[in-house]
Amino acid sequence: MFTPLWKKLALISLTATALTTVAAEKPNVVILATGGTIAGAGATTANSASYQAAKVPVDKLILSVPELANVANVKGEQAFQIASESFTNDRLLELGKRVSALSKQADVDGIVITHGTDTLEETAYFLNLTVHTDKPIVVVGSMRPGTAMSADGTLNLYNAVVVAGSPDAKGKGVLVTMNDQIDSGRDVTKSINIKTNAFSSQWGSLGMVVEGKNYWFRAPVKRHTMQSEFDIDKINQLALVEIVYSYGNVPASMYEAAAANGAKAVIHAGTGNGSVADRIVPTLQKLRKEGLQIVRSARVPAGFVLRNAEQPDDKYDWVVAHDLNPQKAKILASVALSQPSNSKELQRIFWEY
Ligand code: DGL
Repeated sequence: MFTPLWKKLALISLTATALTTVAAEKPNVVILATGGTIAGAGATTANSASYQAAKVPVDKLILSVPELANVANVKGEQAFQIASESFTNDRLLELGKRVSALSKQADVDGIVITHGTDTLEETAYFLNLTVHTDKPIVVVGSMRPGTAMSADGTLNLYNAVVVAGSPDAKGKGVLVTMNDQIDSGRDVTKSINIKTNAFSSQWGSLGMVVEGKNYWFRAPVKRHTMQSEFDIDKINQLALVEIVYSYGNVPASMYEAAAANGAKAVIHAGTGNGSVADRIVPTLQKLRKEGLQIVRSARVPAGFVLRNAEQPDDKYDWVVAHDLNPQKAKILASVALSQPSNSKELQRIFWEY
């Protein structure tokens, strides 16, 4: 049967309007890719743990999850293509400034950062401290490459885009979606190095994302993003902060080396509750007098370091990292000391962030 031209044109116009309307209804989410296992490739489908990270470009990542188009209008950007153990302070600053710029765009509703899992928690906390936006920023990775059987990256990425496009994810700080969990970028840490349930937060996840829907159970209480005094757009260099992993027989020279490297602070990854061996105390007191900030964290994965309990922190003018593990304490100290500070100010910052 013959369809008149006017009817065909009307149908095309209606379809175009419908598609535009649907597109307009879906959130605009930018995926900033940095590499990692989520962009990894193994030789066979049986290689779930042996593979090369940082191989698959962002446009292929997006094509590998066609369902993304059902939940958001997605655009990809290749920020880096590296394994995340190779992140540096300069890369953190570059990524943070790009995230900040994107968050200011009216046509961006949320941002996803695909990232290696090794230092994902450091980047997520860094962005949580420095990017002034209430738009959802979601950092995501995977424990298996996309080439493996039961790869976890596709659903992790889908979940990340769902959360990044969700109005109810606004104002919650930087988030991490791994293994169907929604965790705070401040609290989450990689606690298992070879399972898909690798990430956990000792105070619990903020929620879960299941079949495209978010279920929230708590909200962050520490300062972040819009409430932060630190602004990525005003930070051009992070302070050098080193970590010394403590153990029986640890030599004082490890701390002296950090100072000699030009560190502004040393994070003591102490045994127990951030304990300091008696033979090390004189060195730390000397280094403190010379201007090095001493921050007591702990190598023990859970709990928090008490001030003036194992060590007379008031007397020695030391800082405690509270519940932050050494790598998170390093991030906070490197941000805090990027501007003039003193030990009392630094301790306030560790209580508040
Ligand atoms: N090389 C590690 C990284 O890029 C691989 C781990 C992963 O991404 O899961 O962090």
